[in-house]
Parts: sequence; structure tokens; C-alpha cells
Amino acid sequence: MDKLIIEGGTRLEGTVKVSGSKNAALPILAATLMSEGDCTISNVPPLRDMFTICRILNELGVETHYEGGTVSSRLVSDKFCVAPYDLVRTMRASICVLGPLLARRGRAKVSLPGGCVIGSRPIDLHIKGLAALGAKIKIEHGYVVAEADRLRGTEIYLGGPHGSTVTGTANILCAATLAEGTTIIEGAACEPEVADLAAFLNAMGAQIRGVGTHRLEVEGVTSLGGCEYAVIPDRIEAGTFATAAILTGGRVQIANCRAEDLSAVIDVFTQIGGKITPTDNGICVEGSGRIATADVTTHAYPGFPTDLQAQVMVLLSLAGGISVVTEKIYPDRFMHVAELNRMGAKIRKEGSIAIVVGAERLTGAPVMASDLRASAALVLAGLVAEGTTQISRVYHIDRGYEKIEEKFNALGARMTRVDEPT
Ligand code: EPU
Repeated sequence: MDKLIIEGGTRLEGTVKVSGSKNAALPILAATLMSEGDCTISNVPPLRDMFTICRILNELGVETHYEGGTVSSRLVSDKFCVAPYDLVRTMRASICVLGPLLARRGRAKVSLPGGCVIGSRPIDLHIKGLAALGAKIKIEHGYVVAEADRLRGTEIYLGGPHGSTVTGTANILCAATLAEGTTIIEGAACEPEVADLAAFLNAMGAQIRGVGTHRLEVEGVTSLGGCEYAVIPDRIEAGTFATAAILTGGRVQIANCRAEDLSAVIDVFTQIGGKITPTDNGICVEGSGRIATADVTTHAYPGFPTDLQAQVMVLLSLAGGISVVTEKIYPDRFMHVAELNRMGAKIRKEGSIAIVVGAERLTGAPVMASDLRASAALVLAGLVAEGTTQISRVYHIDRGYEKIEEKFNALGARMTRVDEPT
């Protein structure tokens, strides 16, 4: 198992190129199950989750080839309908094959993903939406089993107790694409990753209107063809590098990044003291060396993303005063708090709220990565901490960040990856 060793205290400066979005690429790749033609999808980051989804597609009769950030897919057989536990348990987003399989093949048997360290992650809304489209669904032996001869368009409200659902919307949207008649999805997630999936489906021949809004209108078609498509840049990776720039009082040009996907983040980072200016292909982020307090609440898009909550908490840990962070999407997503406190942060968690008292400094320590974004926060903390930080279980970070130490080192950081004996 790899470990990251970070020598803190350097100011970051230079240009970093953001990779393609993991969370956009996953449902897009899953949707290739519905295509009768070949698809060529570029800007796919070389992350473990991409290889997992490709292996699932291979199990399901879609041949995939990954080269230089591009996945080529070709349907070989549409007989298979089972996404097995062994693959699904390593990646929750495997649930994204449910809608495409059901819509195209009339049957889907997808393992339920199981527990998750960031909290309870039910799929009741996915099931509700597919059932509304006419699928018969049961849960048996740890699998969700869905069947339908031909799905029928209808009006569906997809909001839940924590707002809209990103992968739930992806599943229902895919299913509606091949359903008979018109489907209206109210309360749809409008995250850029969902809009990207909709644009990909439209490129395959789907008829989706309202892309990027909470109301999607889908005119069912009988088949989808191949297409060429480029995945959007990863807004969370961009936000992570922006955090690092402010944290270290540095100046980083973040290239291949869409500022319009980061409005809430730019708003908070500006309040904290960062200077963010648009560039030709992204943003330039500068830190002043002083960090101001901010109260941050996570919300569905266009609100502040839960996937940057841990990272912003590192900034607030060094602010000149008290900040309050409220987590509205995953109330238990605070795995990073205990580890940050071990590095000298002063964070108190009360339910879904964290009270962050700005500390004078953070100090390096051996810490443990627990989930993707919590681990990213530890990397950021390591960058600014005095001395050496050792992060174990780096595979969590590798799930969402391509070549993290190479990208940071190119900006002046001092990070080394070492193989840790198990
Ligand atoms: N929810 C329900 N019922 C459902 C589905 C969701 O109650 O059927 C609840 C969830 O428990 C949560 C909220 O609704 O409280 C939002 O969950 P959502 O379904 O939107 O999350 P997701 O689709 O499983 C995606 C990202 C996550 C990201 C969330 C929120 C992918 C592959 N994953 O998950 O990304 O945090 O949306 O934006 O797109 C990450 O990249 O680190 C990550 C966890």
C-alpha cells in the first residue's frame, strides 16, 4: 500500500492542468451500454474507478479500450444483465449501469453497493423513478433486480430528504431516453456532471430538453447511436488546487477548468481572502497569506459542493477566528475532523455542523486517509503544516486525483510516494 510523505511549508506557484471529471465520466461510460454504435469518449481521467467501470462494461458485453485519456466502446453482446458484487463493492457509482441496462435490455441485476464511510447512501429514489417508468423492481440476495418490457414515459418527482440525487437522476434520465413517450423529471439534479451526461445522451440521439435545470423533459427514442464526446473538466479537482493556492499564499493558474461550474466556491474563497481571476482556459488563484473566516454550508449545485467541504475546512482551520461548516448533503461526512485535529486544527463537530476555531499553525503528523475527499484535505493540510506529514492508505486519494504528487510537485510542493509494507 502506498504512502505519501509531504514536507510542508512551500508556497505553490505555477500552472496545473485539471483532468476530466470522474463523476461525469462514470455515468457517461455506463450510458454506452445503451448505444448501438461505437462511442469515443475523451478527457477520461486515468483513475481506478474508470478501469472498474470499464471492467463492468466488459462483463456486460461492451468492449472498451482506454488509451491516452480516451475510451472507445463497442457493443459485442447485449445478452448480459448482471453487475456482480465483486466489482460493484469497490465503487458505489456502479449503480449507474442500472438505468441503462434496464432501458436497453429490459432486465438489470445490479449488486447493492453496501456501506460507505461518508454516511448512509440509499438508492430509494433510483428505485422510485424506475418504478414510475413501469419497471418491476425487487431486492433479493443483495441485488436490485429490475425488469420491464418497454419503459413508459411519465412525470416523476425525484427530490429526497437531502434534495436532488446526482446518480439517481443519471439513472432515470438514461432510462427515460429509451422509454415510450415523454418523461418529465422534476427535482432533477442539475450538477454539471448530470448536464454533461444529458449532452452525451443527446449526442447519441436522445431528445432531452432542460439540460442543466431541475426540470428535464425527455422525448423517448427507440435507439441510440455512437458518437464522439469530450468529458467536462473536474470542478472538484480544480477546487482542490484553488484551496492549495490560497492555503500556501501562492499563485496558481488552474487550466482546463470552467469557472462557471465553481461560482459558489469562488464566492467562498474570495470571502476567505483568495483573489480569483478568470483566464483564457480557467482561473488564476492567489492567496494573500491571510485567511479570513467564513460560514460554509454545502448544498446541491449551484451551492457549495459537499465534495469540497473537507478541503475548505483546512483553510478555515488557519483562519483568524471562528467559522461554521454545515454539511447538508451527507450529515456524517466528517472523517477528516479527527485527523486534522491531530495536526493541530481546532474543530468541534456537533451533529452535521463543525465549528472551526482558527489555529496559529498545523503541524505534520502520521495520518490515515479514509475516503477520497477527506484524504485530499489531509494532503492540503500536509502542504501547509510544519514538518513532515505521512498519509497512509493513499489509494483513497488515487480514486479521484490523477498523479496528485506529480501535479503538486510541479507547483513547488515536496511530496514523495513510497511503498508501505502491509
Ligand atoms: N439520497 C437519497 N436517496 C437516494 C439517493 C440519494 O436519500 O436514492 C440522498 C443521499 O443519501 C444524499 C443525497 O441524497 O444525502 C445526495 O446523494 P446523491 O444521490 O446526489 O449522491 P450520489 O449520486 O451517490 C454523487 C457523487 C458524490 C457526491 C454526491 C453529491 C458520483 C459518482 N458521486 O453521489 O461524489 O458527493 O453526488 O454531490 O457522482 C466524491 O466524488 O467524492 C463523491 C462522493
